[in-house]
Amino acid sequence: MTFQVTVQPSGRQFTCDEGETVLAAAIRAGVGLPYGCKNGACGSCKGKVLEGAVVHGKHQEKTLPVAEEQQGLSLFCCATPQSDLVIEAREVLGAGDYPIKKLPSRVAKLEKLTDDVMLVALQLPAAERLQYRAGQYIEFLLKDGKRRSYSMANAPHLDEHITLHIRHMPGGLFTDHVFGAMKERDILRFEGPLGTFFLREESDKPIVLLASGTGFAPIKAIIEHAAHQKIARPMTLYWGGRRPKDLYMHALCEEWTRTLPNFKYVPVVSDAQPEDGWTGRAGFVHQAVMQDLPDLSSHQVYACGAPLMIEAAQRDFSAQCGLPEDEFYADSFTSEADLAKA
Ligand code: FES
Repeated sequence: MTFQVTVQPSGRQFTCDEGETVLAAAIRAGVGLPYGCKNGACGSCKGKVLEGAVVHGKHQEKTLPVAEEQQGLSLFCCATPQSDLVIEAREVLGAGDYPIKKLPSRVAKLEKLTDDVMLVALQLPAAERLQYRAGQYIEFLLKDGKRRSYSMANAPHLDEHITLHIRHMPGGLFTDHVFGAMKERDILRFEGPLGTFFLREESDKPIVLLASGTGFAPIKAIIEHAAHQKIARPMTLYWGGRRPKDLYMHALCEEWTRTLPNFKYVPVVSDAQPEDGWTGRAGFVHQAVMQDLPDLSSHQVYACGAPLMIEAAQRDFSAQCGLPEDEFYADSFTSEADLAKA
């Protein structure tokens, strides 16, 4: 049995198989509904059911409180239709432009960027190229059926390799392997490109890029892409880490301030120790943005990193700095995804 889903206001339609989530069917059909975690934790896929009924699978209560569900709001990543549906959702232009493929890849390079971040460069089969938007991610397909997601850290035009920044989560099966037994020439299978976290190029607003830890990876891809496209919108990168070593490509960011027009870089460290000799900005990275830019009403913000940082930024930027809700774009390492990132 299949159900028909109509998206308003665009009027686009797709079919959803029984037991399939609305989001999975939309991705399959190349319809660009926004999403992030795909597991009911980040809220990026939230929209409204205007007609018909859905049942929600496992999700976080705070992401869809019962009161919101009663008002017809829905997390499409864990909503399965019980009838034909009419839904209201923002559509992301360009999200479905590139085919989602399952591909084998070979580990071409492993390079420790710091004690707990590994750069992994992947080589695709000679006849293959992965087309994607800077900011998107891939999911590794592991032998036990599990998946691990990582954002591409290189812009799509630099397509010799796909590079990823993988943070070691001690005890996590996958990252223990990356930091232990993995070696060059190993084969990894993945699916991608996925995600709707990428630069909205139709806008001319100034851009704030906000990263914590390895949330820098997709932000780096976005900056490289914008530079390649000669996008001249003012761009300010705020990169936060606990210690200075967490800003593992600090020198590259400083170089961008010299080579890219309209680019600023503000490194922020929350827990510097005396031996770090840190004399730069201290505190939480999203608060540094608010100190520098108390009025965000005409900006766009792209944020990637720890869920607490993303939640605080989303809340405070809109409540205290006037950032329009739909100008906040995020890719959160949600708690379940965080586990999945292990
Ligand atoms: S809650 Fe649905 S994509 Fe994150």
